[in-house]
Amino acid sequence: MVTLAPELKTRLALPLQIGSVSLQSRVLQSPLSGVTDLVFRRLVRRYAPASMMYTEMVNATGLHYVKELPQIMEIDPGERPISIQLFDCRPDFLAEAAQMAVGEGADTVDINMGCPVNKITKNGGGSSLLRQPELAAQIVRSVVDAVAVPVTVKTRIGWCDSEINAVEFARQMEAAGAKMLTLHGRTRAQGYNGPARWEWIANVKSVLSIPVIANGDIFSVEAAVNCLEQTGADGVMCARGTLGYPFLVGEIDHFFKTGEMRPAPSPVERLECARDHLQMLWEYKGKRGIRQARKHMTWYAKGFPNAADLRGKLAVIETVEDGLVLLDEAIAYLSSLPTEVDAERLAAPAFV
Ligand SMILES: Cc1cc2nc3c(=O)[nH]c(=O)nc-3n(C[C@H](O)[C@H](O)[C@H](O)COP(=O)(O)O)c2cc1C
Repeated sequence: MVTLAPELKTRLALPLQIGSVSLQSRVLQSPLSGVTDLVFRRLVRRYAPASMMYTEMVNATGLHYVKELPQIMEIDPGERPISIQLFDCRPDFLAEAAQMAVGEGADTVDINMGCPVNKITKNGGGSSLLRQPELAAQIVRSVVDAVAVPVTVKTRIGWCDSEINAVEFARQMEAAGAKMLTLHGRTRAQGYNGPARWEWIANVKSVLSIPVIANGDIFSVEAAVNCLEQTGADGVMCARGTLGYPFLVGEIDHFFKTGEMRPAPSPVERLECARDHLQMLWEYKGKRGIRQARKHMTWYAKGFPNAADLRGKLAVIETVEDGLVLLDEAIAYLSSLPTEVDAERLAAPAFV
């Protein structure tokens, strides 16, 4: 059973202050490329109304040359709190992109300094900035000068095991004007492999004055509490644990606020959420939304009888109707099962 130590409970009750922005939740939904579009964020927000959401990362060079807003920068009217995440290595393009982000209504602008993907790092963005701290600091200064909203940084603990520089790097970002730092406890070389090294998050937290958000392997309420206890971080950010499970941020937030576990959704409730997700993707993106929905649908279809069969069929849907029929059949089937099976709770959220 998870419990909140009194000291932690007191800490969690305070707002999370990011420069001038005050958050009433210490659980954040991570930026996830190909996932955290406006539709996904709507679902997460149903269960976590006060939590900070992030857009997918946006290419500042692309914005500079195209000069029109990509759909991934769209935010719902009144969608708050919301951060637009940018990536690039050019301070001037990032400053310009940050102004566009603020024009769209971003409460904060986040700079991606952690993405491990070759396509991004070979152009000097994402985690390759860990190897160029001077340039990274210049980027922060340039964006801070360009916008009135708080500028934040999301990064990793280092490029590889022989180049772990999280503490020094974090200090430099703070000195450059970053108002919050999110640290994914893995090196770039680790990708998403091996356990997140929360001890580095503790090391960084111990030297910064700005809030430090812990990221990496937050798949449950228990992990979130353990992480905060071990790191002393100011909050947690959930990532892969939310794939096919937009309930996670809300579950952790609820526990942080009440000390009580929100009952996990039943398989039927998860599939009803998948149904909404599919329908909303279709309405928002049309045919492209259906192609994107396939992966989401397979993430939802886990942890109940005949789930593998359903996953196989959802992975190849061509139309919204195909998907809705499959989901409705599965919902009817699961609802017809004896209550103890229907009440079977999922042990852990799905993740890739
Ligand atoms: C599919 C996918 C897309 C991601 N896209 C982004 C992104 O756009 N920006 C970013 O800062 N991190 C991105 N990440 C990294 C996550 O935000 C997070 O830092 C990482 O997954 C570690 O957390 P976890 O162990 O809880 O998954 C992505 C990760 C995945 C799996």
